[in-house]
Parts: sequence; structure tokens; C-alpha cells
Amino acid sequence: MCGIVAAVAQRNIVSILVEGLKRLEYRGYDSCGVAVHQDGALRRARSTSRVAELDALVREDGVQGFTGIAHTRWATHGAPAVHNAHPHFSPSLAQARIALVHNGIIENHEALRAELSAQGYVFESQTDTEVIAHLLDHYYDGDLFAALKQTVQRLRGAYAIAAFCRDEPHRVVGAREGSPLVLGMGEQGGECFLASDAMALAGVTNQIVYLEEGDVVDLQIGKYWVEARQGEAFARIERPVRTVYAHSGAAELGPYRHFMQKEIFEQPRALGDTLQGVEGITPELFGDGAFKVFQQIDSVLILACGTSYYSGCTAKFWLESIAGISTQVEIASEYRYRDSVPNPRTLVVTLSQSGETADTMAALKHARNLGMTNTLTICNVATSSMVRESAMAYITRAGVEIGVASTKAFTTQLAALFLLTLAIAQVRQRLTSEQEAEHLRAMRHLPLALQAVLALEPQVIAWAQDFARQQNALFLGRGMHYPIAQEGALKLKEISYIHAEAYPAGELKHGPLALVDAHMPVVTVAPNDALVDKLKSNMQEVRARGGELYVFADADSRIESEPGIHVIRMPEHYGVLSPILHVVPLQLLAYHTACARGTDVDKPRNLAKSVTVE
Ligand code: M6R
Repeated sequence: MCGIVAAVAQRNIVSILVEGLKRLEYRGYDSCGVAVHQDGALRRARSTSRVAELDALVREDGVQGFTGIAHTRWATHGAPAVHNAHPHFSPSLAQARIALVHNGIIENHEALRAELSAQGYVFESQTDTEVIAHLLDHYYDGDLFAALKQTVQRLRGAYAIAAFCRDEPHRVVGAREGSPLVLGMGEQGGECFLASDAMALAGVTNQIVYLEEGDVVDLQIGKYWVEARQGEAFARIERPVRTVYAHSGAAELGPYRHFMQKEIFEQPRALGDTLQGVEGITPELFGDGAFKVFQQIDSVLILACGTSYYSGCTAKFWLESIAGISTQVEIASEYRYRDSVPNPRTLVVTLSQSGETADTMAALKHARNLGMTNTLTICNVATSSMVRESAMAYITRAGVEIGVASTKAFTTQLAALFLLTLAIAQVRQRLTSEQEAEHLRAMRHLPLALQAVLALEPQVIAWAQDFARQQNALFLGRGMHYPIAQEGALKLKEISYIHAEAYPAGELKHGPLALVDAHMPVVTVAPNDALVDKLKSNMQEVRARGGELYVFADADSRIESEPGIHVIRMPEHYGVLSPILHVVPLQLLAYHTACARGTDVDKPRNLAKSVTVE
């Protein structure tokens, strides 16, 4: 999704800006641009292609400068086109004096556009962002920072902003509300940077200040100044400088065709790393004071989106059956807007790979505003906004996930959620020490069990050839494997563009069975659990209507291949941890189907890795 890099320095910063954009590229974008202060004027280059093309463009055109801003855009208002790409200029191209980039969505942009048009401003794009550039120009009276403070008072919605002005060549200003923005102090000649993620600055500094909601910032050579918004006014504030060792986004593909394939195969390592250092179960794994919190709570509320939501749905089964604690799982974008009944004795758990998902972040704040202050984030990025907003945190160690379709982040989230289940169960005295040790042993064996599942890849590739010709697919699961079927359907939709839906197998006869014929492949997740016989009956309902079944069946489930029933045999049933194994062949099926259809697997159309807008 959108990314920002900005710099004020005493050397040419164009390559730093472009390098920063490259580090943010994996998040997904559809256009990009850079603007600098050059020879007393504003210079700009924009592209609807990759950052590599922008790089070539700025070299070819000799774009260089000591002060500048850059952006990757993921279109919300206005199509992905050069005239909509950031940076935006104001008042107009011929007299441009303000250059600005923006992440987020300005909700009152229509009213502001009407107001600014009436004042004579001409709009060159369909974006909501352009109103901010014109507002800044409107309020500008020789002091860009002062103009910024007036501008942000007029904005409703979410924003991270970076801007500079032709008439103040050694100054960059920024603001954040609802979208992340960090400040970086460089090592050379007092240079300062802004970025939407510390990762973008990994090449130039690890000295990072995380700006807070409502902050505005003024960067000049050798100094910076942060002010916090207090109602209508702003007041100087010191924010701590942290040393951040951000991973570079530019990971190596190695022998793999795509990052998604690499990440699927990294799962044994990722799980091993996530469990490393877990000597035994203790609430303190989730933060200081967790024991006391787990003692007080009477329920769990999980908030998440997409794949993270499905890991929460799986964990509900564990939390209720093993820890005996009532658990609710809600889609974050819905929760934040509905009237719910708050319970201060609830543990609010937010799940997120990126820790920057706008909907989940807003849901977390909403829950807290409702008086639910026991908050825990399970996240793959230790420095993310969500981790910093939560009272407690557990960091999964999946490593940077580049593919838009989440894989290793999902299985490591499940591992963390299982640990959480055991920790709560321990506090509630629901487990004997033998049971606890047995669960931990099973978890430690997971990396090996996953290797056995990954060895099924050649069989999955053969199925993928059939799937690549289909337009629709159904996924069936029961109990805690229903969210796994949902996750399998989501993966197939995201990267192969095949329409896929998941149902709890018992629901088929209540409607979706009407869709079943010889052209509807039905993927079935069939662990050898208490529901396997019921599932076999559901499979017969499909066969009787001519549907083709593709079944991932545990070795001991006594489901055999026969005409119309294709079976890939999984290892023996893995008990309550079975969902972590069963999701892997579904990831492989989606991946190889997408490859057979020739889609852009790592960057599927219309999607972004980190969804920082509502
Ligand atoms: O970073 P998050 O886990 O908060 O992201 C949530 C969803 O946007 C994400 O899981 C999305 O559904 C993935 N593309 C799924 O593969």
C-alpha cells in the first residue's frame, strides 16, 4: 500500500528516496513518484510502472536535489494514472511551490475541493490528496510548518503527510493521524528523513523516532522539532529516539520462483523460530503483568482482518475447548462501527502480520475507548504501530513476508495463539502439567511434521492443473478446520482469481449444494477427528450430484480414492494442532493454480500487502 520517503540533506538524496521506495515495494502499489528542489524550482518524475522505471527516469532526466519527497501509491480516489500519482504540486504546474505526498484517506475532500476550486485552485488529479497540497499553499505565508498546522486542522480522515516548499529549500514538514510516519536521523551532515516505515530508511539510519497520532514535525539540516496536537493548538514534545534494526524488504528469492512459494517452504523454520526460547508455558511470554491480567479476564475478544481473522477463528476452538474461556472473533472493520456490549474483563487480542492494518488498529482503539484496556497484539513486526498501541504483545518470528498472500504469518500466528491458549488454561487451572508438556512436545514437533506435508507438493501440482481450468470452487471443512477451508478459499481467490467459497460441510444441504455439478470442484479438509464420519456423509451428498471431490485426508481417516474422489494423503492426524498442517496443502494448491494461470502471484491485482487505509 502507499509508502512515503522524504529527506533534507547536504547531498543529492534522489538515490536514497528511490532506494527507500524499493524497500517498500513489496507492500503493493500501482504508481510511484519523486519530487526534489532543484535549481530554485520543483522537479518531479512519476510513473505507473515499477520503481525501477522511476529510477531510470530520474537518471535520464538528471533529477537531483538535497531536499525531496517520494511516494508509492495504491489507488483509492482516482485511477492508477500518472496525473494521480504523488507528489502533487500546488498551486499549479507552472507556478508550483508546494510538493506533497500523502498516505491515507481525506474524508472531507469533496467539501475542501469545492472550497478551493471557488478560490481559483485548479485540480489536476482525481485524488483526495490534492486538496492537502492546495490547502498548504493557501495557508503558506513564508513559514511551511505554520501552514501545515493550519492545514491539518481542516482535514478529516487518516493521513501521513510529507511536504516541502520551493521558497524554503532546506526544510521538509510532516504530519500523522491514523497512518504511520517515522522520523530518522541520518549520519551525514545533519540530514533528516521521514518515512511511512523504518524499513524504508534501513540503508541510511537506524535512529528512529516514532511519531504519535496528531504529531506534526519540522525537519531542517541538523535539527528537528515535533509538536503534538492538543485540540486546536500544538505544543512542543520530545519523542524518544530508538535504535531500530529494520529488516530490508529486498529479501532474496533463492531457488524459488516466487516469494509466496519461498514463504510456504519457510514455515518449518518460521515455526521453529517462533517457538525458540519458549522453555515452558508461562503467561509472561505475552508481557509483564500478563499473569494478573489472565487471572482477571472472563472472556477473549479477537479482532483482525483477512487471513489474520481466520487464525483468530481457529483459535476460538482452542480457547474455548482447552482454556474454557468464552471467545468472540470479529472482523475488525465491522467491529469498529457496531454497537457492542463492552466487557472490561475481556482480553482484547488483535492479530496482524503487519501491525499497520488501519481497520484492526482502529478496532483496537475503539475497544480501548469502550473501557477494555487489557489489550494484546500478536504481530510479526515488533516495531509496528499496533504493538506500540497494545499493553501486551507477542512477536511471531516468521521473518519478512513479501508475498501479498499471507502464508507463514498465518501458521506462526496460530502457533502464538496456541501458546496463548495454554497460558490462559494454565492460569485457569484447566491443564495438568502432563497435558501441558504433551502439548508443548507436539508444538516442538510441528516443524518436522510440516516438512512431511511440504513433500506433498508434486501431488498438489497435478491437481492444480485441473483447478487452473475452473472458474469456481467450493471448500469444505468442519469444526476448527472450517476456518482453514475459509483460508484455503481466500488464498485461491487472491492469487488465481478463481471464485472460491468455503462452507462448514454440514451447511451444504442448506443451500450451496444447488451449485454442485461436474464443473464445481469441491476441496475437502478431512482430518481424522471426531467429525470425520459426518464429513464422509457430506462428501457423499456431493458425489450424488456429480461433484468432483479433492480431499486432503489424514492417513488414518479411511477415505480412499475412487471415481470422482481424489485423495491426497496427509500424515497421521495431529490432534488439536491439525489446522496448522492442513492449511499448508491449501496454500500450495492456490499457489500452483495461480502459476498455471500465469497470474502475478506475489503482487495480485488490486491488492496490497499492508492495508493502511480504511
Ligand atoms: O497485516 P494484517 O495481518 O493485519 O493483514 C490483514 C489482511 O489484510 C491480510 O491477511 C490479507 O487478507 C492477506 N492478503 C491474506 O493473504
